Parts: sequence; C-alpha cells; structure tokens
Amino acid sequence: MDKLRAIDSRMLMGPGPSDVSPRVLEALGCPTIGHLDPQFLTFLDDTRDMLRVIFQTKNPLTLAVSGTGSAGMETCVVNLIEPGDKMLVCIAGVFGMRMAEVAKRTGADVTTINVPWGQVFDEDQVAGAIDKHGPFKVVGIVHAETSTGAAQPLKEICKVVHDSGGLALADTVTSLGGMQVSVDGWKIDACYSGTQKCLSCPPGLSPVTFSPAAQEVITNRKVPVQSWYLDLNLVCQYWGSERVYHHTAPINMSYALYAACRLLLEEGLQPRWRRHMVHHQALKGGLEALGMRYLADPDHQLPMLNAVAAPDGVDEASVRSRLLNEFNIEIGAGLGEHKGKAWRIGIMGESCTRRHVEACLGALGLILSEQGVTGDAEAGVAAASASYSAWQAEPTAE
Ligand SMILES: Cc1ncc(COP(=O)(O)O)c(C=O)c1O
Repeated sequence: MDKLRAIDSRMLMGPGPSDVSPRVLEALGCPTIGHLDPQFLTFLDDTRDMLRVIFQTKNPLTLAVSGTGSAGMETCVVNLIEPGDKMLVCIAGVFGMRMAEVAKRTGADVTTINVPWGQVFDEDQVAGAIDKHGPFKVVGIVHAETSTGAAQPLKEICKVVHDSGGLALADTVTSLGGMQVSVDGWKIDACYSGTQKCLSCPPGLSPVTFSPAAQEVITNRKVPVQSWYLDLNLVCQYWGSERVYHHTAPINMSYALYAACRLLLEEGLQPRWRRHMVHHQALKGGLEALGMRYLADPDHQLPMLNAVAAPDGVDEASVRSRLLNEFNIEIGAGLGEHKGKAWRIGIMGESCTRRHVEACLGALGLILSEQGVTGDAEAGVAAASASYSAWQAEPTAE
C-alpha cells in the first residue's frame, strides 16, 4: 500500500494516457458487483447510449470492447475480414502500419498505400488505389495518426470508399472526444477508439461501433471469427437483450467509462472540440516561439497531439526526463521514424487546460534556455498568453 501512496501524480501531456478526472477515479473505486447484476447492466446500457452520442451515430451495434485501443482495432478487422478478403490500408504512420499488420494476420489479402509521415491522403489517391487494385471489402485508415500529429480527411475518404462499394474502417483512438468524429454523417462503417486519450479515462476499454451494413457482414460470415474473445457474434449475446455470459466484463473500468462519458456530455461535444482547438493554438504559438517546428502538414494538424521536431543539438530524452523528474510533466517521445528526434505533446481531455499548456511551455522554456537553445525562457508562455487573449471574447477558454 505504501508504494501505491508514494506514486507522484503527474501532468500527463504525452500521447495518452491523459489526466483522469477525480470523478472518474471515484467511479473506479465504487463497489465491484457481478457482471450479470441488473444494477451493473444498466451501466452498460447507459454507456452504450452515451457512446452513440459521442460517436454521432444511431448504430445498434455499439459497445465497449474489453481491452485497449488495439483490441478495438483487432475487433474491427477480425470480425469484418474472412481469409482471402481484400483490404486496403492507408498508412501515414505507426498506427496505420499496425492496422496493416493486424489485417495480414487475419488472413486478409492486404494492399497498402503510403504518404510521407506528417502528410495526409488525398481522396483521389485512395480512389486511384481502389481502381487499380480493388475492389476492396474493407478500406482502413487512422483518423488522428498519433505518431505524426496529422489528421486525415476522413469524411472525403469514406465517401470514396462507399462509392466503390467497400466498408470504411476508421481508427479514432486519438480523435474521439477531442475533435469531430461523425460516424453516421461521414458514413464510417466500423470505428474504434480508446479510453485513455480524449475520453480521459484510464486505459482498458475500446469503444466500437458498426454500421448496419457492417453488422450484416459480421452476422453472415461463412467462417467463425478467428478470435473467440473478440467474436462480436458471441460478445453481443451479452451486450444484447439475451445477457448471456461470454467473458467477465471489466466492472470497475465500465463505471469509469460511464463517468467519463457523462463528463464529456455535460461539457457538450462542440464546446469540447473547441476547447481542444483553443489550447492547441496557444500551445502551438508557444512551441513555435521557443523555436520548435511542427511535423504535420500545417493544414492538417491535430489539436490534441502536437508533434514537434526537437531543436538541433538537443538531447530530447534528457529534456523529457527533466520535465518528468523536476516538473512532474510527462510528454511523449517520437515514434518510428521520429524516434530520438521529436516530442509528442498531448493536450487531451482533462489535460487540455491553460494550466497544462503554460506549465509545459514554462518548464520547456527554462530547460531550453539553460541549454542555450532559446534566449528567452518566457517566450513560450508569452506567446500562449497572446493566443488566449485573442480568444478572450470566447467564453470557453479556461
Ligand atoms: C491512433 C492509435 N491507434 C491505436 C492505438 C493503440 O491503442 P492502445 O495502445 O490503447 O492499444 C493508439 C495508441 O496510442 C493510437 O494512438
């Protein structure tokens, strides 16, 4: 117990997990009850209703998979794909690569297309790949690529996929709850997310939703889903009216997700997206004033995940470790091609406040000025303040 009490709380400003509200932590500590207890089942139903609002969908097949975002990815792929089915994966970073790997292991006939890291796909590129190598049963893409900080034009790409008769699969692990994700409006057929990013819940569940067309594909499979645990035809017997035991639901994590969804909906979807944009603009102004360059295409930068090149000559790992050990601030390292060269600064959910932005810029300014990288330690905070002043007329900036 002493070791648990000694845990230092941090400001979580990496690529996830993000800070968790005391209300969500309190929910985690509620009494554990049985997974078939009628009291518990009402939480599942309420959470599913709230997830529909958050995903902006009416899809009956909406639930939280027991497992992190990768389990959601795997659930979508294994349920939609049968051996030999053709799938196109659009790769713009590490998580697109992961989706392609999952698809290959499922026995799909996988085609991949790539853009340079930090760039986004044009719908014509996707249409071209479908014309040349398709048709595809499923086309998968990561909306918010956490390794690069770029947002893909999901709406446009889903349209192209639909026009070709395929199913559009979207990873919204980082985007959901921090920017618009409109499952019905954009005609996304299968969509998964994670709890530990903009939903600001601990990691452990993966909200998923499937369109009626995707659900039909799953119901009418010729061969059983290769993963027994993630087989939605079985899992749905628990989430549906039958309430048949499949696996033991993660009870306390389900309370936490319930509380996190409530918090999000109390704030409102649009105010929440706007809050992420307000703080992103301030953080961006501050990071650029400290001499940092964003890695993603300027027209497609994510608000919640700010990937920047570490300044030349700076040992990025030692800066991150000073932020953690001296300031209790966690930021993320570069992934894949950006390893050792970049920082990924997350402002997700509870971590998306003026306090977080200014603390991070203040600490980074101090460390970088000590290393002679910037002459003005306060330049970052000053630029952020100017950005907040520009938003001043807007009431939701904290
Ligand atoms: C875009 C994206 N997809 C998938 C994942 C995998 O999620 P998890 O680590 O929760 O399994 C992540 C995790 O960072 C992610 O950022």
